[in-house]
Amino acid sequence: MKVDVLLGLQWGDEGKGKVVDVLTPRYNIVARFQGGPNAGHTLEFEGKHYVLRSIPSGIFQSGQVNIIGNGVVLDPVLFMQEAQDLERSGVGLKSILKISRKAHLILPSHRLLDAAWESLKGDSRIGTTGKGIGPTYTDKVGRNGLRVGDIGDDFTARYNTLKKRHIALLDALGASHDQLDVLEADWLRAVDYIKQFDLIDSEIYINKALAAGKSVLCEGAQGSMLDVDFGSYPFVTSSSTVCAGACTGLGVAPRKIGEVFGIFKAYCTRVGAGPFPTELHDEVGAEMRRIGHEYGAVTGRERRCGWIDLVALRYAIMLSGVTQLIMMKSDVLDGFDTIKACDAYNVNGTVTRDMPYRLDDNVTPVYDELPGWRTPMSGMTSESELPQQFSDYVRYLEQKLGVPITIVSVGPDRAQTIIRNNK
Ligand code: GDP
Ligand code: IMO
Ligand code: MG
Repeated sequence: MKVDVLLGLQWGDEGKGKVVDVLTPRYNIVARFQGGPNAGHTLEFEGKHYVLRSIPSGIFQSGQVNIIGNGVVLDPVLFMQEAQDLERSGVGLKSILKISRKAHLILPSHRLLDAAWESLKGDSRIGTTGKGIGPTYTDKVGRNGLRVGDIGDDFTARYNTLKKRHIALLDALGASHDQLDVLEADWLRAVDYIKQFDLIDSEIYINKALAAGKSVLCEGAQGSMLDVDFGSYPFVTSSSTVCAGACTGLGVAPRKIGEVFGIFKAYCTRVGAGPFPTELHDEVGAEMRRIGHEYGAVTGRERRCGWIDLVALRYAIMLSGVTQLIMMKSDVLDGFDTIKACDAYNVNGTVTRDMPYRLDDNVTPVYDELPGWRTPMSGMTSESELPQQFSDYVRYLEQKLGVPITIVSVGPDRAQTIIRNNK
């Protein structure tokens, strides 16, 4: 019996897609447990480049079943585009992909509501991805949602009931819904497309597979600092991005969880609004963005960049019981003379290593400075090749975070991955 979880420890885009792909050969099943097409998970191998949004990142290896779990919210139109693109490029998706009947559907009117709520917030807008994520999870918790398993006989009637509710809300907010008829026609066609897939009670499927000795890798989306409970609220997403989200998002009991892989960048990024204590507004931040190609995988939005935040990382490790760390994008810092790491916050003159209730302008980072390695690492394939100063940085992080770093990534390609010898 083996369920391992892989999740982002920062504000998303840590490189989860790449690492899920690398780890997939160790498992029988890969399952996404939360989020929706707000995610953009990038994979590169053999000269190919893919961005996955709703489909798990285990589809490119061979023999694994991939599952979209009940905790995911699914936009049929975006799902159909993603699936058809993959089928066109030769990935035989229908035989390996299963979808939970309990996954909630994103309606076109959810996207309109997302935009309307954002514009009402004015200067305090979240900078959502505009994919209808918040309104869909709101309907789920408010017990109004439509699920994949509802696709069938009385689906149109149920859809119309929910649509009417949304139109009343949009009218009350003074938001237009003129485009709805056009959007709806595409959406209903895409709902029909979903029927070709194996729609299952994934919690039963997964638990039976575990009982039969199979192993499961749970793939998280977003990052711990975007978690609806523990992230930088209200500048968060609407799902549980921490390890507990894998339990509710797939129907797996907590005691069945084995390894928890926590993944982070050697520095830190954030896209959208909200606090980011180590953000750099200077040339160094611009350099990180340029070298790391820090632009959204889906929206193309510029990602904000800054130094690694160990206060936030320790908090995320605590919340999820992380057992192994994976450090990404190490190569992006190859040319830096000095590397900084925020080991504590100064909150109104008091130094703390605990996450404060509110991350506001009164929180300033307290940095340690380490020498850079100034050696290109992206061609390296084994631990023994890594420069001394880089190994010192890794050891410093392990000591500060209290968890071993078992994988180091030195480039976007599947092959640019170094498994360390400490486990
Ligand atoms: P995810 O959402 O966590 O899967 O991450 P994204 O795909 O949104 O963003 C990570 C970006 O960094 C992608 O463009 C990856 O191809 C790229 N990437 C992943 N690992 C590395 C690495 O070690 N070095 C470099 N330079 N790029 C990487
Ligand atoms: P992956 O899985 C980075 C951010 C948005 C916004 C906030 C809320 O690729 O790491 P939402 O549309 O979810 O209501 O937006 O969360 N956000 C992400 N940032 N990576 C993601 O996913 C994200 N998904 C949502 O930018 O600030
Ligand atoms: Mg991403």
